[in-house]
Amino acid sequence: MAEARLKVAVLIISTTAAKDPSTDASQLALSDVLDKEGGGKWELVDTKIVSDVVTQIQRQIMLWADVAAENINLIVTTGGTGFAIADNTPEAVSALLHKQAPGLVHGMLAASLQVTPFAMMSRPVAGIRNKTVIVTLPGSPKGAKENLEAILKMLPHACQQAAGMDSRTLHAGGVKKLEADAGIDSSSKQSHSHAHHDHGHSHGHGHGHDHGDLVRHTSPNIDPISNDPSLGPSRRSRESPYPMLSVDEALQKIKEFTPPSEVIASKVDTSLAGRVLAEDVSARENVPGFRASIVDGYAVVVPKDGKLDGVFPVVSVSHAAPGESEVKELKEGEIARITTGAPLPPGATSVIMVEDTVLKTTTDDGKEEKGVEIHVEGVREGENIREIGSDIKADDVVLSKGELISAVGGEIGLMAAVGVAEVKTYRKPVVGVLSTGDEIVQHDRPGDLRLGEVRDTNRITLMCAAREQGFDVVDLGIAADTSGTLEETLRDALRRVDLVITSGGVSMGELDLLKPTIERSLGGTIHFGRVAMKPGKPTTFATIPVKNNAGERISKVIFSLPGNPASALVTFHLFVLPSLHQMSGISPAGLSKVPVFLAHDFTLDKARPEYHRALVVADGSGRLLATSTGGQRSSKVGSLRGANSLLCLPSGKEPLKKGTKVDALLMGHVRVDV
Ligand SMILES: *[C@@H]1O[C@H](CO)[C@@H](O)[C@H](O)[C@H]1NC(C)=O
Repeated sequence: MAEARLKVAVLIISTTAAKDPSTDASQLALSDVLDKEGGGKWELVDTKIVSDVVTQIQRQIMLWADVAAENINLIVTTGGTGFAIADNTPEAVSALLHKQAPGLVHGMLAASLQVTPFAMMSRPVAGIRNKTVIVTLPGSPKGAKENLEAILKMLPHACQQAAGMDSRTLHAGGVKKLEADAGIDSSSKQSHSHAHHDHGHSHGHGHGHDHGDLVRHTSPNIDPISNDPSLGPSRRSRESPYPMLSVDEALQKIKEFTPPSEVIASKVDTSLAGRVLAEDVSARENVPGFRASIVDGYAVVVPKDGKLDGVFPVVSVSHAAPGESEVKELKEGEIARITTGAPLPPGATSVIMVEDTVLKTTTDDGKEEKGVEIHVEGVREGENIREIGSDIKADDVVLSKGELISAVGGEIGLMAAVGVAEVKTYRKPVVGVLSTGDEIVQHDRPGDLRLGEVRDTNRITLMCAAREQGFDVVDLGIAADTSGTLEETLRDALRRVDLVITSGGVSMGELDLLKPTIERSLGGTIHFGRVAMKPGKPTTFATIPVKNNAGERISKVIFSLPGNPASALVTFHLFVLPSLHQMSGISPAGLSKVPVFLAHDFTLDKARPEYHRALVVADGSGRLLATSTGGQRSSKVGSLRGANSLLCLPSGKEPLKKGTKVDALLMGHVRVDV
């Protein structure tokens, strides 16, 4: 059977080699192994060098493994697998794996342990992302070569299966044939089971405890699909199948999958405040559109010597009021009274301020000026005159694409001044807020709660927060916990709004139907379902494909926030807002970050970075001080009070001391306490 060769990409992870590629020797060693020992099955299609930096490593791997057209079957990395501080490869790679392959890791370690006990100092990972097998090799050319040799014979089979080749075809000849194909003699080795490749135990996907008081003892498994609700509680996943992302990774997903902003033509009026320009705006007209005086005084024709000396007749009057076009041409020796902003009479070349003049004679009825005395020297043409277009010239760009039309600045006024009546802006997304859960009752329902009932605080809170950020909000009510109802409610919502926020229904409860409804009924994609943070771990971000009115395929966004009011509010600001900003063209997206000083010691979460609700006030010297707003257990409603910011606290065992500088994300206004 003539087979296409399997495509390999090699990633050299070395800060030294990134600076000077000539220092790298492993590339050669690896291509050598693939050529000489790969049985002609491998084609090295790409090699890249990156520094020991998690984001760089991940970016390159995703470029290879996330684009179907790349069709890369195998990525091998070399470097960064040791115990040194700069060794980040296993962490960078395992966060990307959809499936772990501990067998390959075991194979590599077992082989190198036969060579040296230092093999224990290598921390390889292996697994599958999309259809690509990924293996991390050590940085030394010798170690990399040995490790690759140890698993090379199994890799074609691994890659073919990962790429989705029909396993019946693959396994048609039984284990013996597979081994023969791979060139392995099983008589000396344990044969491996083909019935079910066991991915039983997996590493590296974090197991952050939700609160200090929730404890689990086993490590999570990976199988990215939500529960099938029809199977009933006995068949549901016993833990979240979604990989745990860091906050940065989650934000990256939001950036990547938030649908593009829509450009619309809008009238220039007060409703534009808060929108972002989708085009450069040019002045339609000159400002000023005519030669205008900038003082009250007398328009004159400046004589050659710049001297005006004597009593001059006032031959006309020019007011700022428009329409008096019958002003006659001014001659040298005549003057015309003029007010600030009024057009100059034709022929006038300068304006003398009224303060530099003395009224000498009036008309017979005493109502008008007749003769005005002026004694000035060195008068130049153009004095006290604004020339046509001296402020803004027609066709000058006055505002740029991407600029925010603020309610405090003068952008709208500027557009009005230059005669622009319509501009292109990014449409602001409409937000829908939905609560889910049979236990949730309307917040203002009269009477006492029955056992198990909870008042719906999140919907009203989130609607408020979205409005405060300048978005139109639709109240989607409370959806009952039955799959049909939820699906119908969401379908209806997606017709009316661009982004749905739901809250409740995101933990692992038996009746949490949201994820299955998104994935199974609405054909949506869940981009993340867990985030390593406190509070807000179960935050979920999904997009749903829909058709717009024009029949084009677009996508809409669903954020599913934790049911706890405080967590919902934190995750709204941290995750939903950047998505809304991106759709609105607002950049940078999300809350502004400022450095603040802790007003007291803060205890840290041992495992997860925390977004701690706090009150930030400016003291007399302008220093920003942060005080916790109370208990931070995610269900504590009390901590919502008075919080105007979220402190970005790292995880750690020791408390952060009073006076430590940390970043704060500002949700509200900063008070000044003097
Ligand atoms: C690969 O997986 C990533 C993360 O789960 C996903 O975003 C991407 O669309 C996938 N690519 C393909 C080609 O399946």
